[in-house]
This record gives sequence, structure tokens and C-alpha cells, in this order.
Amino acid sequence: MEKKATLVIKEISNLITMKGPNRARKKEEMSNVGLINNGIVAVSNDKIIYAGEGELPKEIPISKNVKIISAKGKTVTPGLIDSHTHLVHGGSREYELTKKLEGKKYLEILESGGGIFDTVEATKKATFDELYKKAEKSLNRMFSYGVTTVEAKSGYGLDDFETELKQLKVIQELNKNHLVDLVPTFLGAHAIPKEYKNNVDKFVDIITKKMIPYVAKYKLAEFCDVFCEKGVFTIGQSRKILLEAKKHGLLLKIHADEIEPLGGAELAAELGCVSADHLVGTSEEGMKKMSEKNVVATLLPTTTFYLQSNKYANARKMIDLGLPISLSTDYNPGSSPTENLQLVMSFGAIKMNMTPKEIITSVTINAASALKLEDKVGSLEVGKKADIIIFDVPNLDYLIYHFGVNHTETVIKNGKVYNIT
Ligand code: NIG
Ligand code: FE
Repeated sequence: MEKKATLVIKEISNLITMKGPNRARKKEEMSNVGLINNGIVAVSNDKIIYAGEGELPKEIPISKNVKIISAKGKTVTPGLIDSHTHLVHGGSREYELTKKLEGKKYLEILESGGGIFDTVEATKKATFDELYKKAEKSLNRMFSYGVTTVEAKSGYGLDDFETELKQLKVIQELNKNHLVDLVPTFLGAHAIPKEYKNNVDKFVDIITKKMIPYVAKYKLAEFCDVFCEKGVFTIGQSRKILLEAKKHGLLLKIHADEIEPLGGAELAAELGCVSADHLVGTSEEGMKKMSEKNVVATLLPTTTFYLQSNKYANARKMIDLGLPISLSTDYNPGSSPTENLQLVMSFGAIKMNMTPKEIITSVTINAASALKLEDKVGSLEVGKKADIIIFDVPNLDYLIYHFGVNHTETVIKNGKVYNIT
């Protein structure tokens, strides 16, 4: 049966299709955004059936109830993808602000038993419904910014496995009920629980022998992640956890070299992680190894900003060395309390010297690749999901230049139209 157009977006001043191979784009490829002036996109139910220039070709049949939108003077992109968030958690940590202003560093707060540990307590106390409602509110906010797919991690239960599972089940339930598509990640190794401070290997054993097999068996996560950092999990411990996860069929991510350069990037390459995230302190050797193994580099500039550091990940060097970049919010209550991916895009330009074309690539097809969803989303091509954003901006540069506000006018999710402004 022929697919009839149920939605047509026409007269698009700047249509950014991201046309190209369904894989993470690198080097110059990151600047090929498939821009079409006076573009047109046709959708049949939840899939794209046409994207091109000018008018719809005569062969494309039109449903009699077709909805037609003009995007004259506007910019249209694939739905944005936030590939690294700690979406589900209890409480908030605004009281850390005064400590930060007094000069206390993130790892010092963590070492003194605050930071992530405070959120662990709040997440333990919160009921399923409370966690669900709080995360739903954040997800609504992300959606309004033009985000249609979000990765979400556990990690605020630690040795309290019930709480880890509660987080993963909230993600599962939100994925069923919310418009935004969620990708769940198990991050049991997010901090060393106080009880295991002098016996970290025992906790690693619990993660590898009990938690990972359970999470994999009941399909509660697609990815496994580890916070590999000084004073948190060492390279050896991270390797052990991720290898076990791989054995159980989970895909791998790693919080690597966020604050101290430990060699997390090299480990990501060795283990074949889908992405390595943060990479602020990564060595050139580590970058080269990641590039050889096609590991996506997920950069999180609002985290660097919030950690009050001036040292941002070296995006230019990574692009030169052939690393595909993905940009994400790292939304969490401590190091990046923001759901605003458009703000992250502006930081990508101003703080990391990425071009607008590289940036839009980083939040669409490359972010999709960081979640292994590159065949389904991340570009506006025939057969892909009809996740499409209309931004009320005259061009791509403007979207990134005029920063800190929401430029989304319309979100089209699974072919359905939601007006934002
Ligand atoms: O990616 N680094 C570890 N995890 C988060 C912070 C989580 C928190 O502070 O609650 C991050 O920065
Ligand atoms: Fe994170």
C-alpha cells in the first residue's frame, strides 16, 4: 500500500536534513549538514517519506486530511538528541552553590560525603511517583527545547539496589508514557558507597556478580556506565565492571577524564565503548585510540562551566584527529543542573570553538550514534522517524548565536504536531 502524506512542512527557509551515512560523522563530514533552502518535508503517520527542495513530486500521494505547515523564515532540523543525562533523581542541591562560591571543589564536596551522596539519600527517600513526576517535569522541559530522544542513567542508589531498580523502572515507565523516547543506562558505579570505602573491590563484586546480571536479564538497561575518576572508580575497577556488562550483552559508556586525566579514553577504546563522555583531561594518545575504534566523544560543556573550570574538552583537536563528537547536557543536580540543550550548543561554539554545522551534527546524527539509534533517528531521510523541529530562527548560526533562550516553535514527534510557542 502506498504511503500517503499526512503532514507536509513546506517553504522551509533552512532545512537541515543531516543527509548522509547512518553513522557518526567525523572531520569534514561534521560540516555536511545537508542544507536545503526552500525545503519541503513530507511525513506519513510517524515516518518521513520525502525531504527535498521546492514542491512535492507528483508521485507522492497526499492524504485528504493532510496537515500543511509553512516554515517560511524558519529553520527545520531533526529532533535533537540528549545522549547523556542523569534525568531521574530525588531532591536538588542548590545549597552547594554557597560552598562553590567559597571555593569548595566538586570532588572535595563528594569526598566529604556530600554531592552525589546527598542525592542518593534523597533518591532513596523519594517514592516511585515522586521520582516519576520530577523526571516528567524535566522531560517536558527538554521536549520544549526540541529534544525528542534522551538517554537517562541510574546511579543514585549505589549499593541500595532497590533504589537503582526504582530509577530504572521510572525510566521504563516514562518511556512507555511520555512522548520523548528514553534510552536507559545502568550506572551503579557512580560513587563508592560509604560502607565500602575501604573495600571497593567488594562493591565491584556486588555490581558484577549481582546487579549487572539482574539488570541485563530483565532488560532494565541498554547501556552500562562507570564514573572512572580519581577517588571514585579506578581504571582497573572500571574495566572489570564494563567487561562484565559486555559479557551480559549491555552496550558500554564511560565517564572518562572528567576532572583528572586517568586514562579513561584509552580504556574506552580498549573495551569498544559506544561513547566516552566528558574527556576534559584526555591525552592526545587517548584521543587517537578512540578515533581508531570509532568511539563517540560525548562532550558536556555546561558541566565544565558549572565546575567553574576554564579548561574545556579540546573539541578542535578531537575533530582534527577524526573523533565524532556528540554534545549533551549531562543534566544532573550537581555538576550540570540544566535541561537546556540549546544552551549547551551555544557553549559548544563559544567555549569549544565548534562551528554551528559541527554543533548541529553533534546533537542529531552523532548523538543518535552515541545511543546506537543512528538507523532510526538523527537525520531527516526517507524511512526515519518523523521527529522534526521547527525553530523560529532565520538560520542555523542564529540558533546558536542568540543564546540562553528557547527558539523552538514546533516539535513534531512521531509525525504529530506540538506547538511550543
Ligand atoms: O556526569 N560525574 C559524575 N556524574 C555526574 C554528576 C552527578 C552529580 O553530581 O549528582 C556528572 O558530572
Ligand atoms: Fe554524567
